[in-house]
Amino acid sequence: MSERKLLHGGDYNPEQWLDRPDILEQDITMMKQAHVNVVTLGVFSWSVMEPREGEYHFDWLEAIIHTLYANGISTILATPSAARPAWMAQKYPEVRRVRADRTRELFRRRQNYCYTSPLFRQKVRAIDEQLARRFGGDPAVILWHISNEMGGDCHCPLCQAEFRRWLQARYGSLDALNKAWNARFWSHDYTAWDQIESPAPQGEDAVQGLTLDWKRFVSDRHIDFFKFERDVIRGILPEAKFTTNLMYRFHDIDYHDLAKELDLVSWDNYPTWHKPSETVEQTALDTAMMHDLFYSLKGKPFLIMESSPSFTNWQPVTKQKKPGVAMLSALQGVAHGSDSVCYFQWRASRGAEEKFHGAVVGHDGRSDARTFRETAEVGAALEQLACAAGAGRPRQAAIVHDWPNMWALEGSSGPRNLGLGYWRELACHYNALARAGVTVDFIGQGSDLAGYSLVVAPMLYLLRDDFAEKLCLFARRGGTVVVSQWSGVVDESDLCRLGDTPYGLTELLGLRRAEIDGLYDEERRRCIPAPGAPLPLPVTQASVLCEVPALNETDPATPLLLYDEDYFAGAPAAAVHPCGDGRAYYLASRFTQDFYSALYAGLAKEAGLAPASPLPLPAGVLAARRDGLLFVQNCNPRPEKALDAVLPAYGTAVWQQDGGRLTRLL
Ligand code: GLA
Ligand code: ZN
Repeated sequence: MSERKLLHGGDYNPEQWLDRPDILEQDITMMKQAHVNVVTLGVFSWSVMEPREGEYHFDWLEAIIHTLYANGISTILATPSAARPAWMAQKYPEVRRVRADRTRELFRRRQNYCYTSPLFRQKVRAIDEQLARRFGGDPAVILWHISNEMGGDCHCPLCQAEFRRWLQARYGSLDALNKAWNARFWSHDYTAWDQIESPAPQGEDAVQGLTLDWKRFVSDRHIDFFKFERDVIRGILPEAKFTTNLMYRFHDIDYHDLAKELDLVSWDNYPTWHKPSETVEQTALDTAMMHDLFYSLKGKPFLIMESSPSFTNWQPVTKQKKPGVAMLSALQGVAHGSDSVCYFQWRASRGAEEKFHGAVVGHDGRSDARTFRETAEVGAALEQLACAAGAGRPRQAAIVHDWPNMWALEGSSGPRNLGLGYWRELACHYNALARAGVTVDFIGQGSDLAGYSLVVAPMLYLLRDDFAEKLCLFARRGGTVVVSQWSGVVDESDLCRLGDTPYGLTELLGLRRAEIDGLYDEERRRCIPAPGAPLPLPVTQASVLCEVPALNETDPATPLLLYDEDYFAGAPAAAVHPCGDGRAYYLASRFTQDFYSALYAGLAKEAGLAPASPLPLPAGVLAARRDGLLFVQNCNPRPEKALDAVLPAYGTAVWQQDGGRLTRLL
């Protein structure tokens, strides 16, 4: 991918059409019309590649790869491990996953292999070696795509044994494990390793340390499986580059860990556009949050591996993207750091699960269909924006999104079993920053804070010792830290911190958590600006959890907001505390969105964070930047003025930025 261009194309599944050479021929013609320059092949082709054990057929694939290449279309080649053929599931039951309730699945669906099974790995190795040998030196193949949307878990005997080995390596002794899990409670002390079983509905589900370690283990298993496939191919092709497609708000794998093993991050982007509960701007912000996370994983451009050009068939209601939204969605990815816009899938399937999923070419095969025309327009726009390929983004603000924290936070009983709304919390901070045109990264607790001016730690319940220290050092050196409610509660084993909390941050924040009160969904508590507060904040409402802080006796924080209701009226709901050359803000609850807008407008100014757009933009118009480029997108269903442009409904303008000079590019 040395030539500077954005990739446009997507999942191509021609194995469904091998008996229709006319359709394969039409595909090439239409791909050229749509400005397609890449396809992903082979994701689900195992039953055609190896129809019978050990009998490999690649001629069809080679012919397609070469015809595409002769027409200017490169290939991202996938390994087929996500969906193994029926003969394998029948002959070797161990490749089929066992569910948490210990039932072994029948042959079904996909992404349900046992990642531990030596037999499955042997079969995957064999086919991956064949693919690497056959296509390795092919200039048409520009990237390797390992498997597909890895996730889920397996509870088979092989995985149980592996889990116990993993625990032995982590803890060394049962004594240490029992302590870490506080297993003495309810007399759950383990006296032999083989007493330990993965969490199960009919088994253990009340030892949170076990549940958390199981999640870590499963994440490690997926990463191990990725490495296994990658290294099989790398053994034959030392220069090959690898990705796998990641997912929206994904839970099962610690993507910060997985990203270390990838050459390129890629993800599958399926926003639920036009749902009645959200404006297009809100859906765009929710999606931008994901793009920003995927950029941050490696701090470099990523790929949109899949998206729908029109609609999906798995969201609650199939909604067409309204005219212009396909372009808005595609260019939003590029604005936030994607070097591609790819779709699932090129041509709609005739039957089975995804026959009603949107595709670039529908069942009618028409090139005058709206989806096809709009896809071709996206392709043409991407050619105009080729200079964006490879462009990075500035480091300004970081929000902590840490997988073990999310797992632990969601795994505990209390303080609010109706849900803590973790993603909602992240969005409160993110939306305010994004609307202010601040570039936001999402980091884990292992990340480096260098280069950021602002670090936000929302609901950082599981706070590692080293990260607490990092935050303090960051503030002392001039950074701005924001910590929100339910932070610094437990250690890495989900053991409650003893003494004052937020653990490790009480000096930084100038206060401690004295009490925490849960609210029902419909409950709110009024909060008012503290008299003489150094930052202008609106009257707001607290929801979900109300922490009641006590200010430190020496060197206390300055209240910014006060609770105005309930028994804790008068207690600070938000506060600020100087620390070295920087300062730390503490938010004791979840407030209304106008509160976050006011807070981050103030903080961005204080921290000297320049907004992407040099001029203010109308509500619903969002700006993002990549080095030397400014993207402005109108998420409103009506035209809006932005800088020197009038943007149509859902329209995008792009400028090249050279110091203060802006030159319109699109
Ligand atoms: C995922 C899968 C694809 C397809 C799409 C449908 O992203 O990777 O194979 O099923 O969803 O939206
Ligand atoms: Zn297993």
